[in-house]
Amino acid sequence: MYTGEKVRLRAYRMEDAPKAQAYINDPEIKRLLGGAPFPLTLNDEEKYIASLSAHNSSTYSFAIETLSDSHYIGGCGLNRLDWKNRVAEIGIFIGDKSYWNHGYGTDALKVLLRFVFEQLNMNKVSLQVLSFNERAQKVYHRLGFQVEGRLRQERYTDGAYHDMIVMGLLREEYEEKKDL
Ligand SMILES: CC(C)(COP(=O)(O)OP(=O)(O)OC[C@H]1O[C@@H](n2cnc3c(N)ncnc32)[C@H](O)[C@@H]1OP(=O)(O)O)[C@@H](O)C(=O)NCCC(=O)NCCS
Repeated sequence: MYTGEKVRLRAYRMEDAPKAQAYINDPEIKRLLGGAPFPLTLNDEEKYIASLSAHNSSTYSFAIETLSDSHYIGGCGLNRLDWKNRVAEIGIFIGDKSYWNHGYGTDALKVLLRFVFEQLNMNKVSLQVLSFNERAQKVYHRLGFQVEGRLRQERYTDGAYHDMIVMGLLREEYEEKKDL
């Protein structure tokens, strides 16, 4: 369990499944994540949670809960780990929208970055974000991520193609920012 100022990152539990399903099926969240266009069933979500294991070293998925009342508000984790080159690809969502814009996403990412650099000893964190997702980009910039490129017309959603922005954070950049 890893703790920040507002949230802790913990392992998923089977009882998170109904909320996780509702969060992921929310059309606004689905759009921002660029997810599959078909609603996730409760069974899908339960199977996903059952598949998570500490023994699987290619992905790590955390539930995000509030420190104040242990409310499960979203998830974050590593979608891809390249152990040889020491690059981790991360993702995050705050599914309870009443918690947006209150610093929970920034805090969860700080905790996740600490985990990636200080526990897994990665050298770089990378991510992709839809070009219209300005809130997420603001948070990534604040944490020191740099834009590394633009994948043109990479995602099709709501009848249009959208670019994906590729962002990255090097260990040395993380070290410079982590105590600010
Ligand atoms: C992206 C996300 C993780 C950010 O978490 P959060 O808790 O809402 O973010 P924070 O409160 O830490 O910071 C958000 C910042 O963006 C700003 N912001 C909000 N809407 C914005 C917009 N349209 N354009 C620019 N900045 C915006 C907020 O004012 C805030 O900045 P401030 O702290 O300087 O006021 C969360 O909103 C989320 O999960 N969204 C849906 C899924 C998603 O987009 N995931 C990322 C996919 S790459």
